[in-house]
Amino acid sequence: MRMEAADAQVAAYLRQHETKGLLRFITCGSVDDGKSTLIGRLLHDTRQLMDDQLDALAADSRRHGTQGEAIDFALLVDGLQAEREQGITIDVAYRFFDTERRKFIVADCPGHEQYTRNMATGASTADVAVVLVDARKGLLTQTRRHSYIVSLLGIRHVLLAVNKMDLVDFNQAVFDAIAADYRALASQLGIPHVQCIPLSALRGDNMVERSAAMPWYGGPALLEALETVSVDRADAQEAFRMPVQWVCRPHQDFRGFAGTIVAGTVAPGDGVVVLPSGRRSTVARIVTAGGDLPAAVAGQAVTLTLADEIDASRGDVIAAAAAPPEVSDQFAAHVLWMGDEPLLPGRPYLLKIGTRTVGASVTEIKHKVDVNTQDELAAKHLELNEVGVCNLHLDQPVVFAPYVDSRALGGFILIDRQTNATVAAGTLDFALRRAANIHWQHLDVDKAARAAAKHQVPRCLWFTGLSGAGKSTIANLVEKKLLALGRHTYLLDGDNIRHGLNKDLGFTPEDRVENIRRVAEVAKLMTDAGLIVLVSFISPFRAEREMARSLFDPGEFLEVYVDTPLVEAERRDVKGLYAKARRGELRNFTGIDSPYEAPVAPELHLRTTEADPVALADAVVAALWLDMRAPGS
Ligand code: ADX
Repeated sequence: MRMEAADAQVAAYLRQHETKGLLRFITCGSVDDGKSTLIGRLLHDTRQLMDDQLDALAADSRRHGTQGEAIDFALLVDGLQAEREQGITIDVAYRFFDTERRKFIVADCPGHEQYTRNMATGASTADVAVVLVDARKGLLTQTRRHSYIVSLLGIRHVLLAVNKMDLVDFNQAVFDAIAADYRALASQLGIPHVQCIPLSALRGDNMVERSAAMPWYGGPALLEALETVSVDRADAQEAFRMPVQWVCRPHQDFRGFAGTIVAGTVAPGDGVVVLPSGRRSTVARIVTAGGDLPAAVAGQAVTLTLADEIDASRGDVIAAAAAPPEVSDQFAAHVLWMGDEPLLPGRPYLLKIGTRTVGASVTEIKHKVDVNTQDELAAKHLELNEVGVCNLHLDQPVVFAPYVDSRALGGFILIDRQTNATVAAGTLDFALRRAANIHWQHLDVDKAARAAAKHQVPRCLWFTGLSGAGKSTIANLVEKKLLALGRHTYLLDGDNIRHGLNKDLGFTPEDRVENIRRVAEVAKLMTDAGLIVLVSFISPFRAEREMARSLFDPGEFLEVYVDTPLVEAERRDVKGLYAKARRGELRNFTGIDSPYEAPVAPELHLRTTEADPVALADAVVAALWLDMRAPGS
């Protein structure tokens, strides 16, 4: 809701100033660099404020300001910030102003700890970044971090605002040294265009007008630089691409595909291809509320109709037939992690690219990047605000372009499946070729045939619960009973599998995720072989149990929660591991210093304090019996 409100606000502003050129920029700086003052000054000096806002500001400045009788511009921005907290947008505040020459949208990202998330949101649409440094301090760690993210998100122009020049007596040597440092950093990061401006946001020097206090500086004031910086948008020259936002079908005879053109131009008669399906057609009409258009270009929102009856749905991309974009399901990518819980390889997330959302997981973290030094560090997981170079695997192929070529087709976010929170922003670097070279091989003997030969219906019984809950005891009894009934079974037991297939894995969260991923794949193969598979693993995380479930056909996977309260499991302590864990001799022990997430809606809930293992095993066999006789099984 909040983001929609912000989007509506942006759209309204754009309509108002349709004829002037637009520049989107982002400001970054640490808390004390004077960012609020700088933005406040720009808004004030370009006369974007109403008289009553000015009166209020003057009064506030006298009361709360830090500038004596003068206006404290920071109060203005901080005031808007308070308004923002009441609900316009959570992470980034957009402000609008315009001059004779341009209109501006500035994304103001709070400079505190959560900088990655805020900056990623603001930077992904910005053409220019204004990076603030304090002339007394020069480049700080924050400056390096911000600049790294600026470069990662494809901003090619930086205006370095060397602020508080008044506090270093407008000394040219100070400015020159900082400018040289920054140019060195920018070239290391591959930011091609840097313009350095000495200024004092507080006094207004070199903000809107060139300052007499720094006659040695021959360049433009900040506002002038913002008005003249040339942002080469090549979008219109590129091949045509339009992600389908929705399919418009008001009646039988009309089917239009609505979306915003992200690159190129389109006209009726143009040959197009709908991806990922690959079906081809030609554009029949370009429909808008104001009537049909003879052509449309990048940035326009239109509805296309095609000459042929072909299907496309939300998330597909309509592209120039002569130069279609790539389609893949495996990528190398940069990931900026924003989740409070770490990113774990193998854990299932949702990936949203353009208008499409698919299941995805990180198959490997190649390395993480120290954003201060650009050093590559080994990593098994990514924590809040960390950046990693990763391999991604998607459940379905998506249309994409490398982020350096197209922000619209190369930028993505990751979403947590349980909470729906955005946990990462990322950029696709390239498709992994190995994906294209591995195909599915058709086999004539299939699961149904193998199951029929065994006269049974394949199932996966997934036993989860604390260590010592009784999973293996019950699973073992169930398997014996099934064998006696003539069933073909296999029991995959955590302790046993950890002696072989998974002997390289320990008990860190990332190893447990991989432990479950492997056993789930094995269980799936065994089910495909027609077996009734019993899996007895602690499997402490909901996300991985859901991932396991998703590998199976509907109804094939039965989650069996072996529910033994921690106190009881610890009292029994068959293997003596709880005692060891309590003594601190065993780290990451489930229930002690590693979490167990109980199932929310298991197919079977076995309370071991209320019945003995034999009775519980009987209950499982009875439930399985009923389930397999149910219609449709
Ligand atoms: S899981 O969490 O990754 O699913 P799994 O079921 O394979 O665990 O293995 C659990 C078994 O390993 C336990 O039954 C116990 O015998 C043993 N074990 C050793 N260390 C730990 C630990 N830190 N946490 C839990 N179980 C452990």
